[in-house]
Amino acid sequence: MPISQMSTLTAQPSLLAKSLLAIALLVLAVNVLAVGPTIGVEVPPRKNYGLSTAKRANCMGCHKWHGDGGTGYGGAAISLRKTPLTREQLITVIKCGRPGTNMPYFDKQAYKNDECYGMTFEDFDGDDSNRPLQGKKYLNERQVNAVANFVMTEIQGKPITKAYCEMYFGGPTRECDLIKEP
Ligand code: HEC
Repeated sequence: MPISQMSTLTAQPSLLAKSLLAIALLVLAVNVLAVGPTIGVEVPPRKNYGLSTAKRANCMGCHKWHGDGGTGYGGAAISLRKTPLTREQLITVIKCGRPGTNMPYFDKQAYKNDECYGMTFEDFDGDDSNRPLQGKKYLNERQVNAVANFVMTEIQGKPITKAYCEMYFGGPTRECDLIKEP
């Protein structure tokens, strides 16, 4: 066999091997792309959406990580653990805030129509001390519901537990270790 032909013969298996490797890598890449991020996007428990939304809206900046309220910037925020409010009322307070207090409103349409206590911004003209304060971020319907659900299922009427603490901080922390449970 002429040398020139031999070289093509030896080249062919290696080409085949390269193709197989390329296909294998492609299949692997497609799997990683298809499976990897999907797991990350779909699996987190629903309550974490409420928690992450509450964090982004900075609810805890005033109500504290434990939700038990206390003094901070914005004055004394009421305890969300002791709040007697119903789901409906929680949603109203989140959307509309409380005029005359430091509890801000989070609904973009608040006081533009009369869905907040039947009042609009015009009602506060010349009354700056009671004018509703705007939240750090607007929350849409889904986000307001998620935050209200989070407050109801994890905070309202409950003691501060290590489990809550670790969920809030995303893992064990020194602060959580200090929590004494009965
Ligand atoms: C700038 C500070 C501040 C931020 C941010 C804030 N709050 Fe408040 N919140 C307050 C204060 C102050 C009060 C007490 C109002 C009053 O005196 O009636 C309050 C009251 C409330 C109440 C009424 C509780 C009751 O029993 O009457 C709820 C519910 C509430 N906040 C939930 C939230 C949620 C949820 C968020 C985030 C989306 C949030 N707050 C963000 C300061 C804040």
